[in-house]
Amino acid sequence: MAIDGNTKIFGVIGNPIEHSLSPNMHNANLESLGLNYVYLPFHVYEDNIEYLIDGAKALNIQGLNVTIPHKINVIKYLDEIDPLAEKIGAVNTINFEYKSDKTIAKGYNTDVLGAMRALKEKTDIKDKDVLVLGAGGASRAICYGLTEENVNSITILNRNLERALDLAGDITSSTEYTVNFDDFENIDTHLRDTDIIINTTPVGMYPNIYDKPLIYAQQMNPNMVVFDIVYTPLETGLLKEAKKIGATRVSGLKMFVYQGAESFKIWTGKDADIKAMEKSVMKESGIHSLKDF
Ligand code: ATR
Repeated sequence: MAIDGNTKIFGVIGNPIEHSLSPNMHNANLESLGLNYVYLPFHVYEDNIEYLIDGAKALNIQGLNVTIPHKINVIKYLDEIDPLAEKIGAVNTINFEYKSDKTIAKGYNTDVLGAMRALKEKTDIKDKDVLVLGAGGASRAICYGLTEENVNSITILNRNLERALDLAGDITSSTEYTVNFDDFENIDTHLRDTDIIINTTPVGMYPNIYDKPLIYAQQMNPNMVVFDIVYTPLETGLLKEAKKIGATRVSGLKMFVYQGAESFKIWTGKDADIKAMEKSVMKESGIHSLKDF
């Protein structure tokens, strides 16, 4: 689509931003749907984050994705925040609504929506027992997402037990759930009652692709669903173990594509062309097939 006087702008802010797959993915979608929009990468330094929202409003930017390191810091400059994003404490999508007298910048978290969509595509989540590995920012988002899905139980395992306790405590005090936590030593006890395993740690992520997986095939069973939010590489050590036992696998790449599609839906009210987005991400990552994921 040629850029002309009517072209509208979406973008992603981050530091660094060069490696982001979002511009390619979103432009593939915009092109496929024939929309006169362009999606640009914006390299925004930490010191400039306070000017970002006013600057975007002044330039009539329609929507932004937010990536590392701005997902938390941007919140204080927003006019409104979606309740789930507020609970999570992180925003990855900003929608700008232009009204005659004032413009509203509202924050959302579509990482969580993307993760839940990727999971629900492969399994019912309702009433399931979920084991979450890790207690960092990604775990926080996923756990809050799970509390909105009527799962039966959530257990967090983390190397640093205090961090697991803090996260479990936060969720327990702000939702209807009593979240369990433990350290990795006791993993086998928890695995007996687990339907869904979600890895939110960077274990196995490029360049550390030969990291020892946190769980081996012998500890899993074929009825489990194993979701790794890491998608570089597509098939992590954990997902390789899941394949050995015949468990259902969910890739972080699906989560990435779906978070983008959810952002696009918030900005435009339209459904994204998921196939075009997947094709673009696969091409960028040198992946030929998403079969099995
Ligand atoms: P993110 O925002 O991506 O979640 P983070 O907040 O730094 O990143 O959290 C990373 C999570 O991965 C933490 O739970 C971390 O465990 P600790 O709290 O014990 O540090 C976990 N993690 C990172 N490297 C790990 C490893 N090699 N083995 C196990 N857990 C690891």
